[in-house]
Amino acid sequence: VKRIGVLTSGGDAPGMNACIRAVVRSALGRGIECVGIRRGWSGLINGDIMPMDSASVSRIINRGGTMLYTARSDEFRTEAGQQRAVNTCKLLGLDGVVAIGGDGTFRGAQELSKRGIAVVGIPGTIDEDIVCTDYTIGFDTAANTAVECIDRLRDTMQSHERCSVVEVMGRHAGYLALYVAMAVGATAVLVPEVPYDFEHQVVEKIRRARLGGKTNFMIVVAEGAASGIAVGDEIRRELGLDPRVTILGHIQRGGSPTAHDRVMATRMGVEAVRVLAEGRSSRVICYRDGRIIDMDIDEGLRMQKTLDPEELAVMETMTGV
Ligand code: F6P
Repeated sequence: VKRIGVLTSGGDAPGMNACIRAVVRSALGRGIECVGIRRGWSGLINGDIMPMDSASVSRIINRGGTMLYTARSDEFRTEAGQQRAVNTCKLLGLDGVVAIGGDGTFRGAQELSKRGIAVVGIPGTIDEDIVCTDYTIGFDTAANTAVECIDRLRDTMQSHERCSVVEVMGRHAGYLALYVAMAVGATAVLVPEVPYDFEHQVVEKIRRARLGGKTNFMIVVAEGAASGIAVGDEIRRELGLDPRVTILGHIQRGGSPTAHDRVMATRMGVEAVRVLAEGRSSRVICYRDGRIIDMDIDEGLRMQKTLDPEELAVMETMTGV
């Protein structure tokens, strides 16, 4: 293996830069040249490249976003697009590609490896919804950002004795919302994995809190479960409260990565290069049972995961009194 490419694709996540840095520096350490591919798969299609050396990844370990830019590419979903990407790899003499991103990125990696290009995927998304791994780069930072924002909301909500509804990202999954809800001591949480039941999940929780003497309530809503605005309207209608709705949105995707994200990103980046250097392909780097491992992409994408029932039960306990 003489030369590899690295790209970030899909929604960005804090820690992607730390991961790029780890890929570049560990490749160089093995005598492997590294090429940066900008704007994800569409950059690979269009040959949008930048040379990478040790200095080009200096001072980025602490920076949010991705220095390589990112994009969601429709063209890469077509056969013609995939063939153009293969052609770019051949033209540049790339012996492998490290692709950092979410589900869509992994599906792209799967297609490319079917066409004979060695690809290793690294899970980077704030949603933590990649089935084969217990952790995805960016989750911890996004969670801490959301917690910090909600702590601020809590101050004003307590002063005014109000109900607050906060919509948290996570696409179709509730990992981020559940984690954040537990961390802020929310009155109630709505996640897509639990069938929507306004009476049981919201009304009863608020009622119990009120009967327990509380006059302010924090309702955390995963964007995949319901719209925060709709939940706020329902609370106004059904309970006669005057809630304030906050959609945290892309705030959760930015900011300097936490130590945890930097360390996970670095470990995963180094592992991806090791896998490619060993001449292996079509792998994804995963965090499972406290260890960084690699797994076949097809096998990884076939796996299933859902919210930890223990975490859900803990949340139920904490909101039930
Ligand atoms: O996958 C990351 C994520 O931030 C999701 O939580 C969210 O649903 C989506 O991306 C938003 O996408 P976009 O940045 O294209 O608006």
